[in-house]
Amino acid sequence: MERFYTLAFVAGIGCFAVAFVLSFVFPWMTIDDYHGTQFVDWDQLAKTPSSSFIELSEDFPDEFTAAFPGGVNSENYKEALRLGRDLYIGQACWHCHSQYVRVVSNEMQRFGPPSNVQEYQNALNQPHLWGTRRVGPDLSREYGLRTNGWHIAHLIEPKDVVPYSIMPSYGFYFEENGAPKKEGFALVTYLQWIGSEYVRLDQEAKAKASASGEGGQ
Ligand code: HEC
Repeated sequence: MERFYTLAFVAGIGCFAVAFVLSFVFPWMTIDDYHGTQFVDWDQLAKTPSSSFIELSEDFPDEFTAAFPGGVNSENYKEALRLGRDLYIGQACWHCHSQYVRVVSNEMQRFGPPSNVQEYQNALNQPHLWGTRRVGPDLSREYGLRTNGWHIAHLIEPKDVVPYSIMPSYGFYFEENGAPKKEGFALVTYLQWIGSEYVRLDQEAKAKASASGEGGQ
């Protein structure tokens, strides 16, 4: 009997060791990207206001300056991104939308390239907003997909744009005439940002590859 317990004990430790190597040490050694990740902080992230933020300021000059005194600059861009992210959390958009493209179930055909580690290494992903359900589509490749006008019309009344939509209206973030309030500006700015890190990193990697002659296009 004593021998049986000793055997079971050794086997237990053995199984633990195998699991430790297979599910921790081995992945750690093989995920190269993970070692090279760099955190993108707020200052870097908001340094250059996006073209969609600039466009909003041009399309709604009065409302924009009222919401963001000083107009387009990094400070205001940062504020818009931060508020947009907070609204996304507060309104539980993440309850219906994920921000994570998996490598399974043909998700790449629906949403685009699968998510990678580096695109979450930034201030706007603290906490990350992967979500757990997909009542609506994944939003991680939203950058560049729609115009500001599309987002505004859609947020005011989703059914006007997508007739079968069951997404609730967020018209209270906009004036009667469709001009965004501060929250509306922020939400659109945030939506237009999601996925831009992926594009930036992809371009950087391609530029690096072609510089070192590794067959860039
Ligand atoms: C009850 C679930 C639900 C909630 C909550 C919800 N959505 Fe949606 N959303 C959907 C569905 C369903 C669709 C697909 C139909 C459509 O486009 O309206 C969608 C579509 C979208 C799209 C269009 C994606 C594309 O490019 O086709 C965006 C952007 C979006 N939602 C943003 C948001 C934001 C921002 C919030 C929070 C303020 C939010 N959603 C809250 C269900 C939801």
